[in-house]
Amino acid sequence: MLKILFIGDIVGKPGRAAAKKMISELRESEGLDFVFANGENLAAGHGMTYEKYQEMVEAGIDYFTSGNHIWNNKDFIHSLDDKSVKVLRPANYPENVPGRGVALIGDDIALANLQGRVFMYDDVEDPFKTADKIIKENEGKIIIIDFHAEATSEKVALGFYLDGKVAALLGTHTHIQTSDERILGGGTAYITDLGMTGPRDSVLGVKKEIIIEGFLTQLPQSHKVAVGEQIFGGVVIEIDTKTKRALKIKRINKVVPVEAGKGAL
Ligand SMILES: [Fe+2]
Ligand SMILES: [Fe+2]
Repeated sequence: MLKILFIGDIVGKPGRAAAKKMISELRESEGLDFVFANGENLAAGHGMTYEKYQEMVEAGIDYFTSGNHIWNNKDFIHSLDDKSVKVLRPANYPENVPGRGVALIGDDIALANLQGRVFMYDDVEDPFKTADKIIKENEGKIIIIDFHAEATSEKVALGFYLDGKVAALLGTHTHIQTSDERILGGGTAYITDLGMTGPRDSVLGVKKEIIIEGFLTQLPQSHKVAVGEQIFGGVVIEIDTKTKRALKIKRINKVVPVEAGKGAL
């Protein structure tokens, strides 16, 4: 049996602080084998930096998935081609784009990242067909997919489409956790969205006043990560190493009283 913690989008310094605290707590209480996290908002909410990536590897994250915001920090994009850097980008981007969307971890885990097309970028490859390809290329492996997507319909549909073929299909990107975690009929652990690990009194991690101002004026705003009390969003999944299917999924939605201080990055 394998126990894996998968953390939803970690936002900026406050999110990193909350993730660190919860990783060490959950390691003790759950006996985790691996920790994965979506890191597209790791550095000030905009992509990653190598420094912040390393900080979180040291905190115990074994591998990162990402999504549309991974492209925000132009200096980091070249690092996606470095196989020693444990960060995926969605697999269904065009082939000439830096990085990779699947990684082999441990003896038999294939971690994969896909991006949705509905209300996002409809010119990425079909995530359903890309998933078929990933499954074919990773036969006999424990396949865990982060589906970074906006529309609940696309996420639920892909969950059912992949049921029985992958160990887990976990949604990210909306930063709002859904309470629909379950083991589907074929043994696939599913949740529409893991939620965010970042500032609770915020709009998806951003200072709420900035976003409200944007809605009121329709003018572009420069985003700043909010501070204060944190929310930790993720799941712990248990996987049968023989059948390569999930036995259990436990949702975690916890308020973490860490204060990252002013000017959080
Ligand atoms: Fe995000
Ligand atoms: Fe995203």
